[in-house]
Amino acid sequence: MEGSEAAKAANKMLFVKTIKEIKQIIKNWRKEGLSIALVPTMGYLHEGHLSLIKKAASENDRVIVSVFVNPTQFGPNEDLDNYPSDIERDKKLCESAGASLVFNPEVSEMYYDNACTVVSVKNLTSMLCGASRPGHFDGVCTVVSKLFNITTPDKAYFGEKDAQQLAVIKRMVRDLNFDVEIIGCPIIREQDGLAKSSRNTYLSDKERKAATVLSRSLNKAKEALSKGEKDVSVIKKIIIDEINTEPLAKIDYVEIVDSLSLSEVSKIETPVLIAIAVFFGKTRLIDNFTWDNN
Ligand code: PAJ
Repeated sequence: MEGSEAAKAANKMLFVKTIKEIKQIIKNWRKEGLSIALVPTMGYLHEGHLSLIKKAASENDRVIVSVFVNPTQFGPNEDLDNYPSDIERDKKLCESAGASLVFNPEVSEMYYDNACTVVSVKNLTSMLCGASRPGHFDGVCTVVSKLFNITTPDKAYFGEKDAQQLAVIKRMVRDLNFDVEIIGCPIIREQDGLAKSSRNTYLSDKERKAATVLSRSLNKAKEALSKGEKDVSVIKKIIIDEINTEPLAKIDYVEIVDSLSLSEVSKIETPVLIAIAVFFGKTRLIDNFTWDNN
């Protein structure tokens, strides 16, 4: 066992509620020359989150998991008040996945009442989830910037499940010269293909069954793409037709965009992001994959 691994094994996971305390802990870690990773989450953890934490633990001396339901990224008619939470369960899961510290601030700790500053990434946020959820990415970018400033991580881990979020964060980090490496991690799915999500708990039994149409529709698109189909409207129609076989599904969007700029493409040539958002009752679920012909 290397020195830092022995230290990690000897240390019990820390649970911290204040910015002052976490900054002091990080200062001490830095004095010891330890590398630090951040995994930002809104809690109610599942295997998708845990895959990020495990990867972070395998690549860094210390892993901070933030558990913070960030109010500024929820719209007025969204699920902020009902967002599931179970911090005791999250703490156990974090510890077993190899986290060193859970940062769980109150809203009043993270936001000043008279805060005036918002981090807003233009262009990449006007489409896909940004179009359906106005202001959402301002909230995400502001809280992630704050978490980066508070924790000064060497690396931060984000899931490809939220593909637009990952693209937006990467652009923000580049544009604002944040000194952090952003690591994208693959989508973790249930056995029947549904991407794991804290919001899956909202689904009734019938909606849960219906939600398998998301990955099924994307798999049909993948099949057509691998047979050489390059026409965006054909691929979109395959996805839409499959989703519409499911009476409980209501499409929010089905989009095929350039995977870097997120702008619409007319032909599938560059790497593209194929992203969908679908309502099952009040619950809005997303899924996606990236396709690279080359
Ligand atoms: P949350 O939805 O809790 O997700 C936290 C991280 O877990 C994100 O990077 C997300 O992409 C990743 N994740 C969620 N489900 C996943 C899955 N099935 N497979 C792989 N990764 C998955 O995303 C947020 O929180 C917030 O917007 C946040 C970045 C914390 C800012 O508030």
